[in-house]
Amino acid sequence: MSKEVEDHRIHNRSGNLPFAAIVERRLSRRSVMCGGLGLAAATMLGGFGWPGASRAADGAARAPLSLGFASLAPRMTDAVVVPEGYVAQVLIPWGTPLVSGMAQWHPDLDPTPDFQAASTGMHHDGMYHFALDGADSSDDFLLVLNHEYLDQSALWAARGGPTNAKQGARPLDEARTEINAHGVCVVRVRRDEQGHWAPVLDDPRNRRITTATPMLLAGPLRGSRHAVTAYSPQGTQTRGTNNNCACGYTPWGTYLTCEENWSEIFVNRAEQDPDQLRLGLAESRSIYGWETVEGGVDGEFERFDNTPRGDDPRGDYRNEARTYGYVVEIDPYDPERPIYKRTALGRFRHEGCWPGKLVAGQPVVFYTGHDARNEYIYKFVSRAPWDPSDANRPGERYDRQAIGAKYMDHGTLYVARFDEDGSGEWLPLAEDTPVPEQGRTLGEIYGDLAGIIVNTCDAADLLGATPMDRPEWGTVDPSSGEVYMSLTNNSKRTEADSAARFTQEGESIGTPGVGYATAPVNAANPRPDNDYGQVIRWVERDGEHERFDWEIFVFGAAPGEAADNRSGLDDANAFASPDGLWYDQRGEGEGILWIQTDNGIDKGRDNAVAEMVNDQVLAVVPGALSRREGAASVVDPSNQAELKRFAIVPNQAEVTGIFATPDRTALFINVQHPGNWPAYDSADATLAPSAQVRPRSSTVVIQRRDGGRIGEA
Ligand code: FEO
Ligand code: CA
Ligand code: CA
Repeated sequence: MSKEVEDHRIHNRSGNLPFAAIVERRLSRRSVMCGGLGLAAATMLGGFGWPGASRAADGAARAPLSLGFASLAPRMTDAVVVPEGYVAQVLIPWGTPLVSGMAQWHPDLDPTPDFQAASTGMHHDGMYHFALDGADSSDDFLLVLNHEYLDQSALWAARGGPTNAKQGARPLDEARTEINAHGVCVVRVRRDEQGHWAPVLDDPRNRRITTATPMLLAGPLRGSRHAVTAYSPQGTQTRGTNNNCACGYTPWGTYLTCEENWSEIFVNRAEQDPDQLRLGLAESRSIYGWETVEGGVDGEFERFDNTPRGDDPRGDYRNEARTYGYVVEIDPYDPERPIYKRTALGRFRHEGCWPGKLVAGQPVVFYTGHDARNEYIYKFVSRAPWDPSDANRPGERYDRQAIGAKYMDHGTLYVARFDEDGSGEWLPLAEDTPVPEQGRTLGEIYGDLAGIIVNTCDAADLLGATPMDRPEWGTVDPSSGEVYMSLTNNSKRTEADSAARFTQEGESIGTPGVGYATAPVNAANPRPDNDYGQVIRWVERDGEHERFDWEIFVFGAAPGEAADNRSGLDDANAFASPDGLWYDQRGEGEGILWIQTDNGIDKGRDNAVAEMVNDQVLAVVPGALSRREGAASVVDPSNQAELKRFAIVPNQAEVTGIFATPDRTALFINVQHPGNWPAYDSADATLAPSAQVRPRSSTVVIQRRDGGRIGEA
C-alpha cells in the first residue's frame, strides 16, 4: 500500500526505549536457528486439507532445490518482466464482472454502485486460493483477494475525476461506488488446456464483500461498551471492512483479511480519545469525505463521522471506528455465512495474519504486524489445542467459523520484544499482566480485555515492546516453524544516542495515545533513517510460548553503497522496501522464499534502488544458506548470488499478494497502482501499452512455457 491513502504519519510518539543500549549484532547463532530446521513435515501435513499441502510434499525424490532462472537485470518499463521461458497473463483486472450479462469494463466506463458491487474492486493486494471438492486444485479453485484502496482518478476518469473530493458534499452514487471498490473478492478461476486462466462467471460462490457488508464482532469487543453504535446498540455488529491489505488463511479453510490503513475513512472533529489519536482518525474531513453524503439508509454515511452528538453512544457513531482495525474471517465456500471480526487478535493497522507451524495437540498460533513507523509485531496463541479433525474439508458446506471461534476468540495476544543478544520475548497483553514500575495490571488500567484490545498499541508500549521498522508481511516455513517478516523502511529511525529527539515535552512512556515519534536504532532495526528495509526471521524456543531467537535474513540496499549494503547486494538483486513474503514449500524442509517490494512510490523514488529498477519479486532458497560467523545477515557478500530477481512490475506499481498453485506450475501475484498498464487489447502482461491507458490493478499469473515448476531448473 502506498500512494494516495497511505498515512505513515507518526502515531507512536512515546519516549519508551525498549532496551537501553544498542549493540550491533553478535556472534552467529545459526546453530540455534538450525535447531528447528529439518524437522519432519509430517506433523504439519498429515491429513491436512490446506490447499497445496499434499502436492507440495511430493518432492522427496527430486534433487536438492535450487533456482533455475537467471536473475533479471534492472528494468523500468510499463510492463511485467519475467525470465526467459516464462509467460505472464493479466487476470481479473479492476472492473471484471463476476456474473454474466453485465456491461463490460471499457476505457470510457463511468462505474455505478451496482457495477462495482458485482465486479472486481480496485488495488488488488493479499490473496489466497481454496480448493474445491472434485476439481483439480491446481487448475480450478476459489481465488480470494483483497481490494486495498482507491485510485479516484482512474475510477472517475470518465467524468474527469471525483466530485467534491476535498470540500462540499460527495454525491451518493460516487460514495457507494467507492465503498464497493474496496473490500474482498471471491471468484472461481479456472485454467484451460492451453494454460489460459479465466474467471468462472456466475459461480454461486462468486461475491464481493465491501466497506458496506454487514459483519459480526467476535471475541473481546463483542457486546462491549466500546462497540455500541446507533446501528448496533448491543455492540455486536458493524458494517464493512476497509483497506484490506495482506491476508491470511486458516487450517480450517477460511480466509483472513486484515484492516490496515482504515483510520482515515473516519473523522472525529471533537477531542479525540487516545486510541483515535494513536491510530490517526481524520480531524476535519475523512479521506474520501463519505460522511458528507446527504441521504443513505440507516446511518449509511453518517457512520463515518465519529463526532459524539450527545451523551448516549447508542445515538451516534462515536464508536464506529472501534469496530475497525481487526483480522476478519470469511468462509469463501459459503456466501450465506456471516463474516466475523476476530477482535482477540488485536486492534491496529493490521498488515496481515499468518498461521504458525501447526502441531496436533498444541495451540494454533497466528503472527500479525502493525504497519506504521515504530509499531510492533504480535502473535496470538489459541487457548484450544489443534485438533486435526478440524482441518478443512474442501467444498463442503458446514460451519467453519464455529471452528474459527474455537481457535481465534479465546487465547492470548502477545507483543514482541527483540533483545540485542538475538533472543526475544513475547509479552502477554492480558488482563493480569503487571505493568513494569506501575504496580498495576493492564486489566486495571484498561478496565477489561476489550479495553486492552481497543488500546492494543498503548498497552504494548507499557510492556516495553520493540518499535519496529514498519512490519509488513510475514510467512512461516511450515516444517521448521521459522517465521519471516518484512520490515519495509523507517524514516523515523534515529541514531542510538538521540534520546532527546524522540521524547516529546511532557510525554513519556505510557502517555495515552502517544507512542514513538522517532525511535533509536536497536539490534533488530539497526539502520538510522532506514530507506531500504530488511527481512527478519525468528523461531520459537521449543516448549515455550514466550521466548524466541531471531536474526536478520537480508538487508535491502542499493548496490555499491558500502556502509548500508550489509548483505552485499548487486545490480542483479538490489531491492528496497520488502513487503510481500511467501515461504513456498517444495518438499520436506525445503522451499523458496519469495520477497515482493513496495519501493518506487512508497519512498517517492527518493532512493537509489527506485532510480534503477521498478518494484520486483525476488526468490531465494533459505535452506541453501546459513549465517556465517560475524555476518550481518544470512544473505551476505559471499552468497548473495543466491538471491535472484524473478519478476519486475510496471512503472509506478507495487507488487503484492502471492501464492502458487499446489503443483507449483503457476505463480499468482498482484500488480497494484500501475501508472500505465495493462494494454487494452491483450492479456499478455509483458506487453507495454502503445499509448496512455486508464490503469487497472490486476492479478498476474506467471507460468513456464514448458509447464514446469516455477523457479526451479
Ligand atoms: Fe498495505 Fe503495509 O501495506
Ligand atoms: Ca508497503
Ligand atoms: Ca503491504
